[in-house]
Amino acid sequence: MTRLAIHADLLDFCAEPESAQLESAAVRFRPAHWLLVEDGRIHSVQSQAPDAAQWPCVDRSGHLLLPGFIDTHVHSAQMPVVASWGAQLLDWLNTYTFPAEAALADPAVAQASAQQFVRALLAHGTTTALVFPTVHAGACEALFEQAHARGMRLVAGKVLMDRHAPAGLCDVSLGQAERECADLIERWHGRGRIAYALTPRFAATSSAAHLHMAGRLLASNPGLYMQTHVAENDAEVRWVAELFPQARSYLDVYARAGLLNERSVLAHGIWLDDTDRAVLRDSGAQVAHCPSSNLFLGSGLFNWAQARAAGVKVSLGSDVGGGTSLSMQRTLAAAYQVQALQGERLTAWQLLHAATRGAALALGLGDEIGTLDVGRVADVCLWRWASSELAAQRQAHAKDLHERVFAWLMLGDERDLRQAYVAGQPQLLEAPAC
Ligand code: GUN
Ligand code: ZN
Repeated sequence: MTRLAIHADLLDFCAEPESAQLESAAVRFRPAHWLLVEDGRIHSVQSQAPDAAQWPCVDRSGHLLLPGFIDTHVHSAQMPVVASWGAQLLDWLNTYTFPAEAALADPAVAQASAQQFVRALLAHGTTTALVFPTVHAGACEALFEQAHARGMRLVAGKVLMDRHAPAGLCDVSLGQAERECADLIERWHGRGRIAYALTPRFAATSSAAHLHMAGRLLASNPGLYMQTHVAENDAEVRWVAELFPQARSYLDVYARAGLLNERSVLAHGIWLDDTDRAVLRDSGAQVAHCPSSNLFLGSGLFNWAQARAAGVKVSLGSDVGGGTSLSMQRTLAAAYQVQALQGERLTAWQLLHAATRGAALALGLGDEIGTLDVGRVADVCLWRWASSELAAQRQAHAKDLHERVFAWLMLGDERDLRQAYVAGQPQLLEAPAC
């Protein structure tokens, strides 16, 4: 039996926070409490110090302890091309992204990339992610190995492409792509905390037959996920309409291939219409909103309030390398700004909830991650309330909890992270406290 007790300011959610409420019963703040972890799961929370002979204690008084962040859309092979200048989506893919992904045909590159990526996720306080590796089965395998070795909850699948990409990034044949997926599913789906996601990159790089093959595999096992991109950029939307003239909309291309269910995660969704939103709601599929990417690539402004009003589930993705940071704090700050440009002010509670409990529930993982409830896996992160002079001054000036947490989100980044725990196991070499 392994045990651990951490003392910090505990913050999580017991319900979904209401819009525009700065004081919310959904927020559970337990300052100066102990989180007790036994065999990787949360055993209890208490204000009294536990018996140190029974519980090895980590006293991080004055630090913030949150459930680990959940990033529902990110590309593991794109770290080398993050912050590439001057292009919108389709040019950006051809100029920067596809060449970077092609390098992962080399198993040694794929191995190093997977290792760096998983380490980087944890160093940003992200303990669960939905990841696009590359078309190479070996790159997907390397990613699974790295996450599995750390006991991480990770959802990924080899990227599927059979057209409109360089030859080295296209599946050689439909049969081979199907066999590679089936083989990865058999060996990895449900192993430890790994889950497989059918991963057709987007409608423009898959033929209808290719998408239908992914749909058949998705239907073959009820636990599988599906991830793709949809309606991100206007030129992309027009191109997909030309490629699939029989489809009612971009989203309809996926619906026709049987790719929409409650474990489907579609990145962006900026240019959807009311019918699309109703289809998403009825299927239970979710949008991974990627605000940093949408701003950086100039893709457009996702309307979160409209999605919420239509009953569509929304989670948050960093979308590195279209997005410019793996930090979910930076991602949430961008989400606030994107909504502010449309006249909507999200609270810190709505933002933080979407990247923790909300994402966990949307993924069907609410019993495992996303909160500090007893019995959940202890995927938790310890944060400094402030790392810079500016942030420290702002914290000192804050009048209430919402102000503190909002400032922490807007001003913070991975430099605030003190430790990330996966199933109670510390993942980072700790730098000295400031
Ligand atoms: N659409 C298709 N592929 C990609 C990708 O790698 N990044 C983003 N942001 N959009 C895409
Ligand atoms: Zn993406």
